[in-house]
Amino acid sequence: MTSTDKQSTDLKTIAARIKSGSITRIVALTGAGISTAAGIPDFRSPTSGLYAKLAPLRLPYPEAIFTISYFTHTPEPFYALARARHPGNLKPTLSHAFLALLAKKGLLQFCFTQNIDGLECDAGVPSEKTLWCHGNWKNQHCHKCHAEYPDELMKKAVRDGEVPYCLDEGCKGAVKPDVVFFGQPLPAEYEEKEKLVADADLMLVMGTSLKVAPVSQLPRKVREGVPRILINRERSGDLGNRPDDVCILGACDDGVKELAEELGWTEELEEFWKTV
Ligand code: APR
Repeated sequence: MTSTDKQSTDLKTIAARIKSGSITRIVALTGAGISTAAGIPDFRSPTSGLYAKLAPLRLPYPEAIFTISYFTHTPEPFYALARARHPGNLKPTLSHAFLALLAKKGLLQFCFTQNIDGLECDAGVPSEKTLWCHGNWKNQHCHKCHAEYPDELMKKAVRDGEVPYCLDEGCKGAVKPDVVFFGQPLPAEYEEKEKLVADADLMLVMGTSLKVAPVSQLPRKVREGVPRILINRERSGDLGNRPDDVCILGACDDGVKELAEELGWTEELEEFWKTV
């Protein structure tokens, strides 16, 4: 069951403002929690999260698996788990479909995702309205000489759980998908796009523990007085500290259903989800 922590505004009021057209520039921020229902484990959930399952790999610390300084000498653990992070051919969740429906209705100003599964775009969120803050699997390069690496060979390496190496005989560096590892810069366009947050008239934060900067700081850039909705199993970041915050605590898809209900979009969302 979801529960809505009341603040000085509430879901009904926000939904009414969306329906009346007084909210039209919604900025979304998503994390691994919106893809768990699609079958991709998140990172920090106590038992089911990826970081709870790394013991056999004997890492110095869990995030080492996504840290560039560790990958350069020990890429094996990343590929031992790559398939779980990028199984391919998954159906977007109701939450992904809701974001795509917002875009279809001209209400989605922008979507910042921390995920690399691409399910927002698979659901229909336009790529020009999406920033994959932590990169993506679309391409892969040698981490040493940055030479491109063929998609088919990468797919085989992920499937087999084996490290792919650069095809240049003189290099033979380990190949890495264009995912942003700890210790690497975010995409160049991040700085430009984050300015959109200051222009938002609603922020929707879904399925993230907000533990990793700078993305975790985005909700703080929302202007005072602008509502922020958190849909997450538990509180995260500073969501719930402002009078205009609304926290829907529980499963993302349940929280999305609650919001869709207030908007009168229940049937439309269900029908739309069937098409993605
Ligand atoms: N419904 C609602 N909340 C959920 C669900 C669900 N079905 N599944 C998980 N959650 C919540 C968890 O309780 C947690 O608060 O989603 C959040 C996921 O948090 P993390 O596992 O920390 O994932 P995320 O916030 O995306 O991590 C950010 O950390 O390791 C890096 O680069 C990686 O992009 C990732 C970043």
